[in-house]
Amino acid sequence: MLKALFQFFTTPYFVPWVRKMGFLYEAIAMDGRYHRCKHQWQSHFEYCQQAILKAVVKCEQKRSILILGAGSLKDIPLSTLSEQFEQVYLVDLVFLRSARKQAATFENVVLIEADVTGCLEHVFQGKMHCDRSLPWLDKVEEIDCVVSLNLTTQLPLIPISWLMKKHNLQTEAAGKFGTEMVEQHLALLNGFSGVKCLISDRWITEYDVSGNQVDGFDPAWDVPLPEAEISWDWEVIPLAESTNRTSQINQVGATIWR
Ligand SMILES: C[S@@+](CC[C@H](N)C(=O)[O-])C[C@H]1O[C@@H](n2cnc3c(N)ncnc32)[C@H](O)[C@@H]1O
Repeated sequence: MLKALFQFFTTPYFVPWVRKMGFLYEAIAMDGRYHRCKHQWQSHFEYCQQAILKAVVKCEQKRSILILGAGSLKDIPLSTLSEQFEQVYLVDLVFLRSARKQAATFENVVLIEADVTGCLEHVFQGKMHCDRSLPWLDKVEEIDCVVSLNLTTQLPLIPISWLMKKHNLQTEAAGKFGTEMVEQHLALLNGFSGVKCLISDRWITEYDVSGNQVDGFDPAWDVPLPEAEISWDWEVIPLAESTNRTSQINQVGATIWR
């Protein structure tokens, strides 16, 4: 609790809405959960790292790699990427101290704190609008590989909850905007000329204390994601972590294409 408070008040952030909208809180909560669930989460991190390396093998050149949703960096094979690429660009809205410290040990790893959607500035003011041009992209050059890392289905969650709570957005409009955000993210990936790697949850299942399934749903906001060529289960909420006595397993998939 004390550590979380310390993190909340001392983590530097550059995207103005990060704290008010709850992204910083989420990053700290995720870090806390990681420390409690290391054992269950480790294989997921390893699968993600393997998928990224599989994408890297397909690159004809290795000038720069861009990772969107880098967060804790735990699902990134950072030292191998740093050795193989001239530049490694890691993008997220917020990086906690542990991620900053790790990134700083590599000369060619650059942290970019930015909104990958172009929507947040507008959403903060209650508008369902997204900018098409993303100024932070001007900073990155010669991208031979782009990775969307456990980010796609998360993109609409906080913006929509913000719009519903603070700006009275209704459920139907919220769902439509969520769909637009995911579609726009896939379009962003497809706009890069190099190798693309999409790592994302594809199905979410919840179980009760007896292990019976109580819910199962596609988390992609009604957007068909490209078929996964590798997939695995991530026990993201073990029973002991849950407030409503249900555990959650995400089926995560990776798709790699040119
Ligand atoms: C499920 S976490 C995965 C992070 C990281 N790959 C990991 O495992 O630690 C999703 C990440 O997406 C980031 N994120 C959410 N919305 C974003 C946005 N609009 N722009 C940039 N990053 C965003 C969050 O800050 C968070 O770090």
